Formats: sequence, C-alpha cells, structure tokens
Amino acid sequence: MVKMRDWVEEINERARTKLGIGRVADYIPALAERDANKFGIAICTNEGEIYAAGDALEPFSIQSISKVFLLTLSLRVYGNALWERVGLNPSGMPFNSLTQLEAERGKPRNPFINAGAIVVADRLVSAFATPSKHLQDVARKLSGNESILIDRRVLESEWQHRSRNAAMAYLMKAFDNIDNDVDHVLHSYFSCCSLSMSCIDLAIALNYLAADGHAHATGEPFIAPDLARRINSIMVTSGMYDAAGDFAYRVGLPAKSGVGGGIVAIVPGKFSVCAWSPALDENGNSVAAQYALELLASEMDARLG
Ligand code: DON
Repeated sequence: MVKMRDWVEEINERARTKLGIGRVADYIPALAERDANKFGIAICTNEGEIYAAGDALEPFSIQSISKVFLLTLSLRVYGNALWERVGLNPSGMPFNSLTQLEAERGKPRNPFINAGAIVVADRLVSAFATPSKHLQDVARKLSGNESILIDRRVLESEWQHRSRNAAMAYLMKAFDNIDNDVDHVLHSYFSCCSLSMSCIDLAIALNYLAADGHAHATGEPFIAPDLARRINSIMVTSGMYDAAGDFAYRVGLPAKSGVGGGIVAIVPGKFSVCAWSPALDENGNSVAAQYALELLASEMDARLG
C-alpha cells in the first residue's frame, strides 16, 4: 500500500525532529552506550504486511516490553489464578517504586511495574526450567527471526546494578509472594529484559494482540481472543507507568514501553506498531517514539481511510 509506505516515512522524518530531547537511561550502564540519534518505526498489519522506516532493523534492548511476553506466557499457564499474586490496577508511581509494596503486603499493583513482572517471572520459574530460554524461543517463533539473542552485556550490567529490584524481590519473598530462590528469579527477569529485538521483530511478534490472539508468523492461534483483549486493557491502564493517563489522552492506544527506548502499540483489528529511540523523558518513556505514536494515532483515520 503506497500511502502507508509514504506515511511511515513521513512519521520517521517528523519524529526525528525530537532527537536531542530526553536522556538515554544510565541506571543500567550498558544501556547508556546507545546512540541517542537513532529512530526506527515498523508497522505489521494483520494481513502480515510490514511497513518500516529509519533504524527499524536495528536490535535494541527490549527491557520492559518483555513484560508483555511474560504476562502472556504466565496467563497461558496459570489463567486467572495469576491475579492472586499480582493486581490489575495502575500504580500511579514510577516503575521501580517500592513504597506501595510494604503497605499492600507484597502484592504488586500490576504486572507491568518491576515488582509485578518479578512476581510473574517467579511464576514462570515454577513452570519452566529456564523461562528466558523459553521466552527467547517464543520471541523467535512469533517474529520469524531465529537470530534473536539475549544481550549478555546488558544482562551483566542489570545484574551488577540490581539493588532496587532485589529489594523488591526480597520484600515480596518475605510476604510469601515469591516461591523460588530470589537470585534465580531476578536472573530470569533480567535475562528477559535483556533480549535484543528490532522494531520489525517486535511489531511482528506482538501482532497477536492486534489479531485476536492469532500469531500470523506461525499461522496459529497463540492465545484466546478474550485474553488478547484483556492484555490490551492492562496496557492501556498500566503500560506507560505513571504517564499512562497522559499517554492515553495523547495517543489512546494500548502500549508498552521499555527503558531501552522502544514502545509497542496496538491498533486492535488492524495492526501492531513499534517505535524506538533511546532518549527518554522523566517517566522512562522514549520521547521520539511517543511522538511518533501520537502522530500515527491522530492521523490514522485520515491517512488510511
Ligand atoms: O528492571 C529494570 O529496571 C529494567 N530491566 C526494566 C525497566 C523498564 O524498562 C521500565 N520501562 N520503562
């Protein structure tokens, strides 16, 4: 579709005007090495067409976008029993906040803050010998890209700087909300965050959320349609952390960001999109990627008819 191709190119050019605003994450030192002048965008339609521009083929650290995969995999294993361990409401707090955990007896507000994803990782450690290997296999299968890898430098850097996440995990362990060895759970969680994927990989791999749970790279249903709808709902309320409300107002699509600078958004029934640029705002969301998604959402009806 020519107009789609031109439109994605145009968004690429306009989003690049935001390069230079924001800061590359440095609390995980290996992430700080990324060039802030990168920007990429890729759309995967439910018919399997790919429209991409800029640095869309360049792998980056998916970081918290992995929380969408972790949630999907654990809901496939545990179903609604998962919600006994983790809540379903926005936290209104930064993604690495500890303050609610003590008052709420070690049950994190939702699966997309760090504490919530660590609980989900614990559930997966109980279900799979090596959850990160399982996730890597799933990411490869869903995207059709067999070369997806865990970035060992990023993993090592996260492990070295794990104090905050370890504090959360031990507090939750004290409340009996972590079943497995804390170091093992943290290592699995960091390994999943350290997967490297490109905008094209992520747009294809997460297209099942736009396509009623159907994964078109494998040609098979990956999750039930109502599960896809529910995961999209949690992305709306909690996918962008304490900025979820602002983002919903500006963009209005289910989305999930990561401190590697990627954001995946879903247009249910139509397409999945991933935008990436390393420099982040004060909430940990990529400045240029958010702007690209804002352009996309506001022009979608007019441009695509
Ligand atoms: O645990 C962490 O802090 C990182 N591995 C993931 C944080 C993240 O991506 C939050 N996203 N905006």
